[in-house]
Amino acid sequence: MTIVEQPKASGTTGGAAPRGALDAAALRADFPILDQEVNGHRLVYLDSASTSQKPNVVIDAVSAYYREYNANVHRGIYTIGEKATAEYEGARARVARFINAPDSHEIVFTRNATEAINLVAYSWGRANIDRGDAIVLTEMEHHANLVPWQLLVQEKDGDLEFVPISDDGLLRLEVFEVLLHLKPKLVAFTHVSNTLGTINPVRQIADMAHAAGALVLVDGAQAVPHVPVDIEALGVDFYAFSGHKMLAPMGSGALWARRELLEAMPPFLAGGEMIREVHLRRSDWNDIPWKFEAGTPAVGDAIGLGVAADYLTALGMDAVRAHERELVAYALEALPRAVPDIAVYGPMDLDLRGGVIPFNLPDIHPHDVAQILDRYGIAVRAGHHCTMPLHERLDLAATARASFSVFSTNADIDALAAGLVEVERIFRG
Ligand SMILES: Cc1ncc(COP(=O)(O)O)c(C=O)c1O
Repeated sequence: MTIVEQPKASGTTGGAAPRGALDAAALRADFPILDQEVNGHRLVYLDSASTSQKPNVVIDAVSAYYREYNANVHRGIYTIGEKATAEYEGARARVARFINAPDSHEIVFTRNATEAINLVAYSWGRANIDRGDAIVLTEMEHHANLVPWQLLVQEKDGDLEFVPISDDGLLRLEVFEVLLHLKPKLVAFTHVSNTLGTINPVRQIADMAHAAGALVLVDGAQAVPHVPVDIEALGVDFYAFSGHKMLAPMGSGALWARRELLEAMPPFLAGGEMIREVHLRRSDWNDIPWKFEAGTPAVGDAIGLGVAADYLTALGMDAVRAHERELVAYALEALPRAVPDIAVYGPMDLDLRGGVIPFNLPDIHPHDVAQILDRYGIAVRAGHHCTMPLHERLDLAATARASFSVFSTNADIDALAAGLVEVERIFRG
């Protein structure tokens, strides 16, 4: 039987975290999907904010689970069942290490960030939000960190307030300060914007919110794959993220929350696994985190998430961030040079921006842009990127979006720039 090995990324130098930027060109060999042509061209994948590609170590770990020790967890008194349990719980420890969570029991496996946020909205929210209570969100939230709170306040007759953004896509903290006079019970916001790339000052916002008596939930879906995340240093109460955006399988994700919050929260989904004792008319709950993991979990996906976390750690999250910062700098120069009338949105300060480039070409719908780019094997996203209110605020119907990951290179950006020249040639003749 193969033990799931600690992954080694081929772009790293030995076991130590590399200094400086990644060798993304070398790393690409770890991602088999990139080695193909689409419509007769090299696949240029620039949609990692939607979902990232997966390295061999993750694919192999999931495959090894199904080939060698597929069994349910926490039940089988037999060898492969015990191994499945050990690897599943080992993945929890790997994920906890990745975000520097003090206790792996504070990691609840979910299907994705959406489910993690819904867990908090249903469990903590329904127990703690009452009539007239305020929840503060921001104008840049993904629908996943908006709609669950809309449902909650509609049910409880609570109130949603929003921190506005400036024209360059930064949160207006002077308005936030005023909103805190409402004494909100919760402040929930994204760490990194999936549309603008804005990196929000989590610690500062969390300190302000706590001083006003609020709890803090952070949507880390676009942060964990791209910037170092240290839960202790961030000082938040809930942190939600998806695995599939951080090189892990679809259907993996996690909620981190402080132990005492998880212990006080009622169950979200009910059934097997989440109970200690069941009687006909009442039941007792399992300990955390299993209290929140009803039914058979996605074992192979969770194991893949643990391996992805170790893979990113081996690359070094500082190096990942440095690499993506360089890509953004290159793109912000190369794209306007190729197509001078391009409009690029979001903060222009590279320290405040992750690897996301939303853009428009005047009078060409982003769907047309994406469709023509696809003819050249270039994958970008077009639409509202699940941030309709943000697009409304920016007075945009839609945008095209290029987004990066560890395997993205300047050559990908050059291909995008050349593709956009073609888009303009086709539309403008
Ligand atoms: C900032 C942000 N939050 C939440 C989500 C939701 O992620 P998922 O669909 O994996 O639940 C996304 C997905 O794009 C996102 O970008």
